[in-house]
Amino acid sequence: MNDNYSGEEYVVVKALENGVTIIGLTRGKDTRLHHTEKLDKGEVMLLQFTENTSAMKIRGKAEIWHRFGNTSSESFQK
Ligand code: TRP
Repeated sequence: MNDNYSGEEYVVVKALENGVTIIGLTRGKDTRLHHTEKLDKGEVMLLQFTENTSAMKIRGKAEIWHRFGNTSSESFQK
């Protein structure tokens, strides 16, 4: 668990299919979903970890750039 946030950290997500969902999870003792964003194929979003957001969940096929490098997420069963 991480209760405090210092520094700037960004993530870039590029949707490789329609309907990719980015879900923001709250920082602190409780982990809740506080924001949901949908991207269609080809759309790119830059996201920032903040004092309110400590984790993000990405559903669907996307390419993700972050401080550890680059990750691909895959399609999920509908
Ligand atoms: N609220 C949790 C926190 O601030 C959110 C979280 C971050 C989390 N990383 C996690 C929850 C890993 C479960 C597992 O730390």
